[in-house]
Amino acid sequence: MPRDNHVLIFDTTLRDGEQSPGATMTHDEKLEIADLLDEMGVDIIEAGFPIASEGDFLAVSDIARRAKHSVICGLSRANFKDIDRCWEAVRHARRPRIHTFIGTSPLHRAIPNLSMDEMVERIHDTVTHARNLCDNVQWSAMDATRTEHDYLCRVVETAIKAGATTINIPDTVGYTAPRESAELIRMLIERVPGADDVVFSTHCHNDLGMATANSLAAVEAGARQIECTINGLGERAGNAALEEVVMAMRVRHDIMPYTTGIDTTKIMNLSRRVSTVSGFPVQFNKAIVGKNAFLHESGIHQDGVLKNVQTFEIMRPEDIGLQAKNIAMGKHSGRAALRAKMRELGIDLADNQLNDLFVRFKALADRKKEVYDDDLIALVQDADTHEAHDTLQLKRLRVICGTDGPALADLGMSIEGVEKSVTAQGDGPVDAAFNAVKALYPHGARLELYQVSAVTEGTDAQATVSVRISESGRIATGQSADTDTVVASTRAYVNAINRLIERRKKSAPGDDVKTVDYRAPAE
Ligand code: KIV
Ligand code: ZN
Repeated sequence: MPRDNHVLIFDTTLRDGEQSPGATMTHDEKLEIADLLDEMGVDIIEAGFPIASEGDFLAVSDIARRAKHSVICGLSRANFKDIDRCWEAVRHARRPRIHTFIGTSPLHRAIPNLSMDEMVERIHDTVTHARNLCDNVQWSAMDATRTEHDYLCRVVETAIKAGATTINIPDTVGYTAPRESAELIRMLIERVPGADDVVFSTHCHNDLGMATANSLAAVEAGARQIECTINGLGERAGNAALEEVVMAMRVRHDIMPYTTGIDTTKIMNLSRRVSTVSGFPVQFNKAIVGKNAFLHESGIHQDGVLKNVQTFEIMRPEDIGLQAKNIAMGKHSGRAALRAKMRELGIDLADNQLNDLFVRFKALADRKKEVYDDDLIALVQDADTHEAHDTLQLKRLRVICGTDGPALADLGMSIEGVEKSVTAQGDGPVDAAFNAVKALYPHGARLELYQVSAVTEGTDAQATVSVRISESGRIATGQSADTDTVVASTRAYVNAINRLIERRKKSAPGDDVKTVDYRAPAE
């Protein structure tokens, strides 16, 4: 394969990203994210793991049907049943790919209890089977970075001979370091017969915070596909972040002269959407997409940036889709200004969405002196997470709290259209409000995460609240924003319960729970 300087971007937000506990997305959310990735120029979208559940299968096949440019890929373990199911899902795509993998390190070989020779045979048979179905086959050596080099060469050679067109070398546990990552790819390209006929890919996890550096080092050694996720979402500490690897190659093109097909101006919008639908907030100081990434707080920095932006900025906010802020929004701003502002923020709204936002913007502007960009983004995200057909709707909330005893919450909620109210006590106002929700809608879901962050500065700032709950292996998240933290918290909690109810309705118990252990090659 000619190793020109073009690097393929393989996005696995919907597979490895969605696999991270609590990041479960609904079907429609997955389709929306896939559309945005396709529009952004991602070369390959790993849309899911079709055998894992009916929901995953449907998501992958629907994404395959609608993708316009990207290759659509599904994951499968090293057995015919997984591969057939994967093909069933991706076959509708203009450009389908089957991705099959097996753990090749000593620790992973012990799980299916295969000898080294038996594993080689399994790789030969499964890759051949996949290649008979689809002419675009990716094979991954899970835990490659902890696999003996001689054995890794042998299994990679087997996969190439059986017809794999992309060879992925994952750092499954985020263990490698840049020099080692480069040496591994270089070693494989030098030693494995047929290496020139395939694309080598890197897939790095971030357990030691080196995923981006390790991916770029692999590219310098000859890898031409990077597997990554938006916001670095993914198992444990996550995967290499798409925005980081892409912007690093763009900003430091002088020393990393590689190109990608990514329209970087779409990055910010995708980052926000993935954060909203996954319920995983982006850390403030996250590279590229963090809220503070382009903020200059100290006097010296501000002074320098005002004189020449390049003093402290290595890239322009516009490069990732953040527009220069020139429309100030307030109480007297009209609908046209709101539309222009949202465009400036990279958010295009349909007329009905704009009308809805306008009403809520006016209500916020009445309560808050200045409405910042982040307030508007929070309003849009809040609208995205509440549906008119939700089973539970918060109607009214009053809390009394203080230093002299438990807090009291008086709550009114409609449940399937029937209005009910209750008063409950709690250890603080949020606890009292949650207890009131539970009293009106008893359920056994456990609260896994409750997170509050202020959208902007000041005591009148909006708070965004994320809530994650779980029930028999099903996980649901809810988010909300309001200038009143207790209201935002209660709405986020109610929203999470609504998502849980939807999941219960869609599946028999356990159906949408990923019960398949993706580490073990079944059969
Ligand atoms: O981290 C990993 O090894 C994976 C494989 C399934 C490619 O995600
Ligand atoms: Zn992974």
